[in-house]
Amino acid sequence: MVNQVTVFVPASIANLGCGFDIMGMAVESAGDILSMEMSDGDGIEIINRTDYDIPASVEDNVMTPSIRAMLAAAGVRKHLKITLMCKIMPGSGIGSSAASAAGAVVALNTLLGNRFSEKEMIEFAMEGEAISSGGARHADNVAPAIIGGIVLICSYSPFEYIRIPFPATFCAAIAHPRITVKTSESRAVLPKEIPLKGAILQWANVGGLVAGFMNGDMGLVGRSMRDVIVEPYRKQFIPGFDELRERLFEAGARAFNISGSGPSVFALCDNVKKAEELCIIMSEHFQSKGIDADALVALGDNRGARVIF
Ligand code: HSE
Repeated sequence: MVNQVTVFVPASIANLGCGFDIMGMAVESAGDILSMEMSDGDGIEIINRTDYDIPASVEDNVMTPSIRAMLAAAGVRKHLKITLMCKIMPGSGIGSSAASAAGAVVALNTLLGNRFSEKEMIEFAMEGEAISSGGARHADNVAPAIIGGIVLICSYSPFEYIRIPFPATFCAAIAHPRITVKTSESRAVLPKEIPLKGAILQWANVGGLVAGFMNGDMGLVGRSMRDVIVEPYRKQFIPGFDELRERLFEAGARAFNISGSGPSVFALCDNVKKAEELCIIMSEHFQSKGIDADALVALGDNRGARVIF
């Protein structure tokens, strides 16, 4: 049996506008690379070879609960040495913590002889992702990170999801303004109850979004990828959010939303050339506010986490 494996895990955009905590998609433009070595013994060792800081204690790392849950379910004790080689920037809003949790479970499952299903891996990964969300278990980043494509969570209890492949014309522009927005904080500002009028709009949009993706109708996708429930509370964290949306729509964007809990934002459009134009607009916008931003063109990743060697 192999005792060492290296995996790549793609970045992901959660919520997709109206689908708070139930929809997400994998994008191939960024991702994590980690290797895992399994030996006899006990304990988890994490070596960080990336440019970014990770929690000082193994106990605080999102990988740890996911690994422990999988080892317990497998009924085995092992020592695991994990080396992080490439990391999505933590706190960027494109699934950095999800990629770590997803990478850990995909690597461990490989070393355990692929004894767990995709669905079980997603559930293990959710255990780790919950750390960065103030305890909330959600799969809208970890599910697409593991299985690729667009994922709709139909139910959390019992856990059920469907995967939708990307329409051929799918293309997005993502911008990451260098500001800090913690997921736990951006969840804390959300209301516990929502008005019926807003709920009706939101579930109409979720229906339209899923139908649009499944039929490859990007017009419908764009019109439906709107969030009237969560965004009004979160856009305060992103300077000039409404102004930027207006500029992007004038330039031909089909949709514009916060990526997950932010601070990254993304615009949907029809082709790479348009996405490049939208990236420039987003970068200039944040620069005009005195904020550095990284922007990238994002194509869908239909493969999800994979063993690379
Ligand atoms: N659905 C989550 C949120 C994604 O918006 O808070 C970020 O983890």
